[in-house]
Amino acid sequence: MFLVTGATGSLGRRIVRVLRDRDRPTKAFVRLNSRYGELEQRGAQLVIGDLRRDRDIAKACEGVRYIISTHGSERDPAQIQYRANIELIDRAVAEGVEHFVYLSVLGCDRGYEDSLVFKAKREVERYLQASGLNYTILRPSGFASNLLPLAENFRQTGVYLLIGDPQNRTSIVSTDDLARIAVDSVEIEAARNQVFAVGGPDILQREDIPRIFGRLFNREPLILNPPLLAFDGVRNALGVVNPQLQKSLGTLRVLLANEYFCTPAEVERLESVYSMKMESLEGFLRRYLAV
Ligand SMILES: NC(=O)c1ccc[n+]([C@@H]2O[C@H](COP(=O)([O-])OP(=O)(O)OC[C@H]3O[C@@H](n4cnc5c(N)ncnc54)[C@H](OP(=O)(O)O)[C@@H]3O)[C@@H](O)[C@H]2O)c1
Repeated sequence: MFLVTGATGSLGRRIVRVLRDRDRPTKAFVRLNSRYGELEQRGAQLVIGDLRRDRDIAKACEGVRYIISTHGSERDPAQIQYRANIELIDRAVAEGVEHFVYLSVLGCDRGYEDSLVFKAKREVERYLQASGLNYTILRPSGFASNLLPLAENFRQTGVYLLIGDPQNRTSIVSTDDLARIAVDSVEIEAARNQVFAVGGPDILQREDIPRIFGRLFNREPLILNPPLLAFDGVRNALGVVNPQLQKSLGTLRVLLANEYFCTPAEVERLESVYSMKMESLEGFLRRYLAV
């Protein structure tokens, strides 16, 4: 039995699809107020709960052999990204879980103090590595599925908002590839107790994204490119009235200010271990947008 947390998220629901397509018994951890109809239709067993409650986590872990932790939240990283994963790992040890797959983030080991999410991810990685469980840690760059609403907006307006350095590099990952990698991690010997950077196959510059949109929709992109300083100004102003909001924008600031890409050697390692060819961003978008 697999347990998937964050099962209603953009990655989690794809993981449930892969598992159910392969007929694997799957528990999907969901909140009562989320949209989980599709998961149920695919034959996943629903565990209704909240990851802020330890007893819900304990119940979800009963009788589970594999855990794939994909949940996340910008709102309360200390509780959701950190505490809930520590509790899941402790329950996994108690239940004798065979393999724990953890969705981290590319760059979490670079010491970005401004982002609670990045800090929480790194600490959870450490805790998992010391737990004695078999694990696979996946550190993805940005998900291609994040770009679908932006592409739809571009289709209507031709406008793309790019905050910060347009030349910063990124290796956007196909969210479907990542879902397959997460599921395969429990079965592939070479993925056991390993950490993988997951992205690519291409190293793009951020300004390539509106160019790809332009090609897809046959439209010249209008790129609005405020500098990072403008973001900082707005963030600081917000901080005067709402210091908590200012703090929570730290993760976005870290994402906007830095590069997240996989080297060719990292992509090669991934494709070799998982016996796959990573899908390009353009391929992913064409598939979903039917263009
Ligand atoms: N998106 C990216 O570009 C990216 C890049 C690198 C790493 N990651 C990491 O990859 C993982 C998956 O990302 P994603 O974009 O697929 O996430 P997502 O779409 O934001 O989904 C988050 C999931 O977590 C669930 N969740 C949040 N708080 C919860 C709570 N208190 N109790 C139960 N469930 C709760 C949400 O449930 P509801 O439906 O009820 O809200 C949802 O299913 C995350 O760990 C994220 O940090 C994401």
